Amino acid sequence: MTTFVATSKTPYINVFPDHRLNPINRLIYSGFTEHMGRCIYGGIFDPDNPNKELINEDGFRLDVIEALKPLKIPVFRYPGGNFCATYHWQDGVGPRDQRPAFPELAWGTVETNHFGTDEFMKWCKAVSAEPYLCLNFGTGTLDEALAWVDYCNGTKNTKYANMRRANGHEEPYKVKYWALGNEMWGDWQVSQLTAEAYAERALQWAKALKLLDPNLVLVLCGAEGAHSWDFKVLKHCIRPAGKDDLGEYRKPLIDMHSIHLYTASYDHYENVVGPLTAERNIEIAKGLIDIPFYESKIPASQPRPLICFDEWNVWMPSRAVGSAGGEENYTLSDALAVGVWLNIFVRKSADVGMANIAQSVNVLSPLMTSKQGITKQTTWYVYELFCKYMKGYLIATHVGCEEYTGKTKVEYCRATRRTPYLDVSACYDEEEGVVNIAVVNMHLDNDYEVKLGGIKGKAQVLEVNGDDVKVTNMGGEQKVGITEKEVDVDESYKFPKHSFSLLRYKA
Ligand code: AHR
Repeated sequence: MTTFVATSKTPYINVFPDHRLNPINRLIYSGFTEHMGRCIYGGIFDPDNPNKELINEDGFRLDVIEALKPLKIPVFRYPGGNFCATYHWQDGVGPRDQRPAFPELAWGTVETNHFGTDEFMKWCKAVSAEPYLCLNFGTGTLDEALAWVDYCNGTKNTKYANMRRANGHEEPYKVKYWALGNEMWGDWQVSQLTAEAYAERALQWAKALKLLDPNLVLVLCGAEGAHSWDFKVLKHCIRPAGKDDLGEYRKPLIDMHSIHLYTASYDHYENVVGPLTAERNIEIAKGLIDIPFYESKIPASQPRPLICFDEWNVWMPSRAVGSAGGEENYTLSDALAVGVWLNIFVRKSADVGMANIAQSVNVLSPLMTSKQGITKQTTWYVYELFCKYMKGYLIATHVGCEEYTGKTKVEYCRATRRTPYLDVSACYDEEEGVVNIAVVNMHLDNDYEVKLGGIKGKAQVLEVNGDDVKVTNMGGEQKVGITEKEVDVDESYKFPKHSFSLLRYKA
């Protein structure tokens, strides 16, 4: 638990390393690769790049793999996003020269199908991550979904398992995570559904999918977490998968509930406090899950479904238009907003089973490619520090500091959430014996001299900062990166204005 009080006196951060709350599931650092803009084509897959030293024999970008792999990103979601609503997976397997091209309706392009399931599985292996596939709830059928699961996971002598073998992949891919559609509530979605219609379809598909493979982890399509859509679909779908032959209720049909949110503003403070809405939405969604879970006949021994925050990031669609490829030019302010986003997932790690930054390459991404190489955007460095260090156990933390009381966008920051200038999460990494404290100082002008309680002595500080909050790394010059220093935290530490700091203290 991270608690906060507003005070105009000396700010403080007290951490309680012995008060371990819950293990932090590293799945909160997962990624997302969609057939959108240059994420797949020109991002992770670039066979026509004239700089042959940048690609391997599969056409995968080596510099992208080299950048992503050390982050140990656990899971990548694929193939969308909105793209899923008209995607037919069978068009993307088999000999490449025989794969059909189709008009793509989500982003208005032509999908060549040159990259598909088998390529994605191979790419996941190259970055040591697990795949998470999203089913087509738009123009797709249940038969097609069952066939995809059998293609990926089938071990028997069946049509689709044999199709995979014939395509040169003897071993099953053992894909565990499957989403029951994407944003089916949105009016931009091909075959948009009402909550009632979606819930009934999701329930019937989930039943069949679990009959085929009871070990699948199925993700229900939610909205923003605090919406009547979330309430209705959870109420209908959180239930056991019928009874077994002995009359015992089976496991829940639904294992996770997906929610999405993007935040952004040209105003720095609105930009950095915007993500705090997600914290409130997680709390609300957790309650919406609890009601049907406790009312259902799901055996008490079964785990409560968790939240899958499978799209989050800083994104202003009017600035980075989706159909134009959704390429954001992230500022230092955006990097600090990403720090707040990730602090939230750490603070809420008991309730969030997975979170996926949207997206992992080129589209709304911390990592950009050109034909010549890659650029790490401002947001990359904060994401990197979380992926590498914010693991182990969430620990109790109490923060006292000034509160931002200015303008917020109502839709992004509801009144129920406090907005301290110092946004904090802390963890204890048992493996390394290190307490990690992640601190965003949002203030544009104030360096905060902060009294630290619970840690004493030498600490390492990894800081992400820049000359001002508008700087970006996309102009050919790296203006934001990580600086490292060793400090004595016996009394206090000064957190510089508009910075992200990771304090690492050997306990
Ligand atoms: O990540 C970009 C798009 O945003 C996704 O395709 C969609 O699910 C969301 O609206």
